[in-house]
Amino acid sequence: MIIVESKAELQRWRHKQAGLVGFVPTMGALHVGHMSLVNACRMECHATAVSIFVNPTQFGPHEDFNRYPRPIEADAELCERAGVDLLYRPAVAEMYPPGSQTMVEPGAVAQRWCGAARPGHFRGVCTIVLKLLNQVAPHRMYLGEKDAQQLRVLRQMAADLDVATEIVGCPTTREEDGLALSSRNRYLSVAERVGADALFRGMRRAQQQYQSGIIDVATLEKEFRTLLSYEGGWALEYAAIVDENTLEPLTVFGASGLFLVAARRGATRLIDNMVITRPQ
Ligand code: PAF
Repeated sequence: MIIVESKAELQRWRHKQAGLVGFVPTMGALHVGHMSLVNACRMECHATAVSIFVNPTQFGPHEDFNRYPRPIEADAELCERAGVDLLYRPAVAEMYPPGSQTMVEPGAVAQRWCGAARPGHFRGVCTIVLKLLNQVAPHRMYLGEKDAQQLRVLRQMAADLDVATEIVGCPTTREEDGLALSSRNRYLSVAERVGADALFRGMRRAQQQYQSGIIDVATLEKEFRTLLSYEGGWALEYAAIVDENTLEPLTVFGASGLFLVAARRGATRLIDNMVITRPQ
């Protein structure tokens, strides 16, 4: 594996690649979920590039940019062992040199949910991902379905801005109890970790209730909120069943809906999602 920190070195590597190049953008603090993206990429592409960049423009002023985990050595070792070909670790000044002033402004799919809770977040995500795509020029980019709104926003950006890279969504990797893997899970104290699977349990219950005939969206969302308040230790941000394409709230179910949830457990903000499907 080669590790590069500049666009110039990255481009030298890129020009030597003859086959399909796959790309996994990350902010590091890598875990098994990231590795599942790397594995999918390695299965389908001739060369796998991973970026690690904690992107300041997608964090709000009071968010965790400074304390975001940066286990540089451990991340490099994980990439090496997973068979990554190139690890790109640019510094902030490489990605945002003094004087840079252009940002990508996403549209309607970025407005609600995480977009409303974290103003400017998806603007930062779109900007950095477009820059990385321009620099790496991959044939395919692999993203986790865990960040469902991010995936939808980036697909929209790619369609609107004629990005040639194919975007591949990969299933969420979960702990045994159902907690979705996230770099932020390491913020949870031992006590907070107990019961942190409640978001997953709540969504799975909604799926079961829907299958057993409760088809009213508002009832399913209310049941979810009730479960979370019984559990204790949660501050719910949103729990909504939405249209998978527009991410607008559903009032009546069609064949399926996407359950999006975000809640704080102590100081840790967790998000998750699940597709709720009609009984067969
Ligand atoms: O999902 C992430 O880790 C980040 O939002 C991404 C896509 C790497 C952009 O910084």
